Amino acid sequence: MAIETASVETTLAALRDRLHGVVPEFELTIKAELAFEINRLKRERGAVILGHNYMEPALFHSVCDHVGDSLELSRVAATTEAEILIFCGVRFMAETAKILSPERTVLLPAKVAGCSLAESITAEDVRELKRRYPGVPVIAYINTYADVKAEVDVCCTSGNARQVVESFGDQTVIFLPDEYLAANVARETGKEIIFPTLGPKPAGEPANSLKHEMIGWGGRCEVHEKFTVEDIADVRRQFPDVVILTHPECSPAVVEASDFSGSTAAMSRHVREVDAPRYLLLTECSMGANIAAEAPEKEMLGLCSVRCPHMNEITLDLALASLQETRYVIEVPEEIRARARGSIDRMLEIR
Ligand code: 13P
Ligand code: SF4
Repeated sequence: MAIETASVETTLAALRDRLHGVVPEFELTIKAELAFEINRLKRERGAVILGHNYMEPALFHSVCDHVGDSLELSRVAATTEAEILIFCGVRFMAETAKILSPERTVLLPAKVAGCSLAESITAEDVRELKRRYPGVPVIAYINTYADVKAEVDVCCTSGNARQVVESFGDQTVIFLPDEYLAANVARETGKEIIFPTLGPKPAGEPANSLKHEMIGWGGRCEVHEKFTVEDIADVRRQFPDVVILTHPECSPAVVEASDFSGSTAAMSRHVREVDAPRYLLLTECSMGANIAAEAPEKEMLGLCSVRCPHMNEITLDLALASLQETRYVIEVPEEIRARARGSIDRMLEIR
């Protein structure tokens, strides 16, 4: 939660309190000044900051009014009354906030802050899939851009993907764009999945065959695809009592070899609720540091240093510039926004 204090000195003291042992002192000194100025300006301008769980520790613990996973932050964006929303996350997340709160000014501190999953599929790709599989409902992971969301029936996040797929009962569904998330959900729900865009079609199968229960796409998260089953075996050899948590954007083999898999918020809850000698998170590495700051009694193994280059673009300097210069404003054309809103609303209705 944001640090609400009257001076740079008291901001620094509060940051030290929260991040001692996680962030070096020289970094805290520089960042306290930026954090103080951001929090002051935020109040003056009637802004709120939403921060994804992957934000770097000093930003995450000093200026964010709401933190969470994609689902939690979407819910906040849908209900907030603040005039300005600064999204400390990546572009598709800021776009989702704009889709849900069109009357607010939504700012993304970095100009690009993309995502390899969002970039893996276009609206035309979705239209082509719909031509190939007419009448088959389409589910899009929230890690997609607005024009893709506008083409689909419903969205999902890693926090509710299973429930969204199950809401279609026995129907075959198209699930895009994350190959691994789709395969993990298929495994969890006992469904058979094919990837018509990866490799040749199975012999003798007509292009529009509906015998499969899930039809996937070949997108991948450039961060989570890096983790391997060998990484897990190595860590278990050294620390047999470690609890290993994975994000469902990891490969099915990696998820299966772990002890728990869930959204960033679910992983965070699991570490807090489960009593274990030590934990390893196979996900973007800032998250482990953020949990270590909140729960210093928990031993977090820091064996990975895989940082999402897109999340990494969001810094305190840029968050301050964003507030000072009202940049970068997220816009979504109304015709696309309205249709994308339908897909997100249908997701938010599924509990
Ligand atoms: P969560 O919705 O679990 O926070 O994940 C977002 C994301 O981009 C993971 O890489
Ligand atoms: Fe996209 Fe992966 Fe970065 Fe998440 S961690 S924003 S899925 S590239």
